[in-house]
Amino acid sequence: MQCWPSLVMTLSALMALLGVLHLWLFRHQPTYYGKHEPRQSRPGKNPAARTPRCTHLPSRCAWFLQELPSFLVPALLLALRKPPRFAPLGCRLLAGMFCGHYFYRTFIYSFFQRGRPFPLKIVFFGALFCIYNGFLQGYYMIYCAEYPDDWCKDIRFLSGLLLFLSGMGINIHSDFLLRQLRKPGEFTYKIPQGGLFAYVSGANFFGEILEWFGYAIASWSLPALAFAFFTLSCVGPRAYHHHRYYHKTFTAYPRSRKALIPFIF
Ligand SMILES: NC(=O)c1ccc[n+]([C@@H]2O[C@H](COP(=O)([O-])OP(=O)(O)OC[C@H]3O[C@@H](n4cnc5c(N)ncnc54)[C@H](OP(=O)(O)O)[C@@H]3O)[C@@H](O)[C@H]2O)c1
Repeated sequence: MQCWPSLVMTLSALMALLGVLHLWLFRHQPTYYGKHEPRQSRPGKNPAARTPRCTHLPSRCAWFLQELPSFLVPALLLALRKPPRFAPLGCRLLAGMFCGHYFYRTFIYSFFQRGRPFPLKIVFFGALFCIYNGFLQGYYMIYCAEYPDDWCKDIRFLSGLLLFLSGMGINIHSDFLLRQLRKPGEFTYKIPQGGLFAYVSGANFFGEILEWFGYAIASWSLPALAFAFFTLSCVGPRAYHHHRYYHKTFTAYPRSRKALIPFIF
């Protein structure tokens, strides 16, 4: 395989278009999983007592299967590259940031999941997207990216890395706080407290967005920018719909808390 810049351009543009489409489709209605799945929209009810509208997978299995390609596809591309490429340190660090996030999401986040069963069709589309994105980011980094030897001292790399690590810290901590709201086997919803949840309803989503914009700055690349935009388009509306759900469901929900961006939105 070699680098085809037009393939990278086309796949990146398509991803940005998917982001626009997602924003448009889900601006008024949420994606139907978790608290927004119609049969499970009232807190305090046992979801197992109601008939699912479609096939579901246990959440651990669903997250594992959905996220695995984001980790596996770049790893396979790297293993299959002939001759092996001894990339500059900048490239290796960037690949480590991407794969590090998806190692966490596939092998740690999914293992500790306490979520409700997940609709199979969402797992299917999620896995397709992860194959696509894993290929685009991996292919670009392994076959196309060129960085000077001192890229890891460049202000873009350093500021992007800082943003990425801050976002990852917020995301992992917020995932942990959400998990602590439930005992194993429990499926009710409570008001998230602590960490960045003091300021926003979608603290985990805010962290995820920071992470991928940080990665885009650190890698200074079109595929990473397209993915950061897609993430914003995907989890931004979800944070907004969570926020509305909390206000409708809990009369004591903190009024000063914003949906996604502290003090702003
Ligand atoms: N990069 C991307 O494009 C992208 C896209 C989607 C997701 N993600 C990331 O994947 C992670 C999970 O996404 P998600 O959409 O599943 O997040 P979510 O809706 O906030 O749910 C996360 C977990 O917390 C539970 N939970 C949420 N609110 C709760 C509450 N008030 N009380 C008790 N438990 C609660 C959920 O259970 P239930 O499942 O039972 O609701 C689920 O297990 C996030 O970190 C997100 O940033 C990234």
